[in-house]
Amino acid sequence: MASGDKVRVGIVGAGFIGHLHAEALARVPNAEVVAIASPSPEKGKALAASFGIPRHFTDYREMLALDGLDMVTVGVPNDLHASVCIAAAEAGKHVVCEKPLCLTLAEADRIIAAGRDAGVKMMYAEELIFAPKYVRAKQLVDEGALGEVFVVKQSEEHDGPHSPWFWDVRRSGGGVLLDMGCHSIAFCRWVFGNRPVVRVSATMGTFVHGGKTRGEDHAVCVLTFEGGGIGLCENSWAKGGGVDDKAEIYGSRGNTRADLLRGSSLTTFSETGYGYAVEKAATTTGWTFTMYEESWNYGFPQEMQHFVDCVQQDEPPLVTAEDGRAVLEIVYAAYLSAGSGRAVDLPLDPVPDVAVPIDLWLGAATGG
Ligand SMILES: NC(=O)c1ccc[n+]([C@@H]2O[C@H](COP(=O)([O-])OP(=O)(O)OC[C@H]3O[C@@H](n4cnc5c(N)ncnc54)[C@H](O)[C@@H]3O)[C@@H](O)[C@H]2O)c1
Repeated sequence: MASGDKVRVGIVGAGFIGHLHAEALARVPNAEVVAIASPSPEKGKALAASFGIPRHFTDYREMLALDGLDMVTVGVPNDLHASVCIAAAEAGKHVVCEKPLCLTLAEADRIIAAGRDAGVKMMYAEELIFAPKYVRAKQLVDEGALGEVFVVKQSEEHDGPHSPWFWDVRRSGGGVLLDMGCHSIAFCRWVFGNRPVVRVSATMGTFVHGGKTRGEDHAVCVLTFEGGGIGLCENSWAKGGGVDDKAEIYGSRGNTRADLLRGSSLTTFSETGYGYAVEKAATTTGWTFTMYEESWNYGFPQEMQHFVDCVQQDEPPLVTAEDGRAVLEIVYAAYLSAGSGRAVDLPLDPVPDVAVPIDLWLGAATGG
């Protein structure tokens, strides 16, 4: 495409993240969202109307056939990521795939190959590396303000997801480790300059939501990076009070701590309650953390700006399907570790043949 042309984008999925994609892309001046695909015509129409998107389709394959569509964002349940990404690449579109990249490493390899064969960018939507507060922390690391970094901690936690498919591990692929641990793992890799992880140790359990899922609702992982350096990832679907997202970085000459949401919110007391505080907060009465510019603080518009610029200028993206695959391999290792009670070395060789990652934990627990 000519470098002055707007990038024409199609959004696949009109749920929670589809809405965030539309909202973020509306803030990207060199992008134009031309269509949205959702099997629910009501949802597709409503989202299109909210953001002035001219067309909506119930079958994403019809949208992919549109002339002049440059890029699609993929925000559908995890079990559909591989088929949508591959179809989009085969239709010659650049792709932004939501986390987790897909369910299995075999699917990840097919996604990467499809992007390579079609000559399109296969980008991996990890917004934390665009979140302004975390970007500032990474700048401190890169300018040497903290000395040699030896520990990176990240945690993203709430009281559980909003749609039924997340709780069905055959569709989601796993519990909180896969759903939110992938953010923490990607964050640790990013701060350590994407050095390989050579060993993973994890423990997890289903503490609160056992009545509705076989997925783990709290997980702790320790990553050992090549050449030293420890990543600590703690993730919960069992913590009330609204989303909590924070990181800490320790170096030989300093340290920094970033509380992404609570450290950026208003501290409000209200007897009456009010409309909205922060994602997944169950109440707005009493003391609450009132978020503003939540999407911006999370880095969604900045992430979409980056991907659109990469397509327009034909530049390499900061985060790709290869990164998504690396994160997924670490997730496999963490489930294996929690299932076996031992540390697991990477790269995995051979790659375990499983339908979904959580089987590496559930299978061990049930002797399957
Ligand atoms: N980056 C983040 O922080 C973040 C946050 C939430 C979700 N996600 C990811 O985004 C993806 C979607 O999650 P969500 O929270 O939006 O779920 P959701 O349940 O809110 O929405 C999913 C949407 O996909 C639609 N869909 C299903 N099949 C489809 C198809 N064939 N074509 C088009 N649309 C289809 C459904 O109708 C639904 O509206 C998941 O992979 C999830 O992990 C990422």
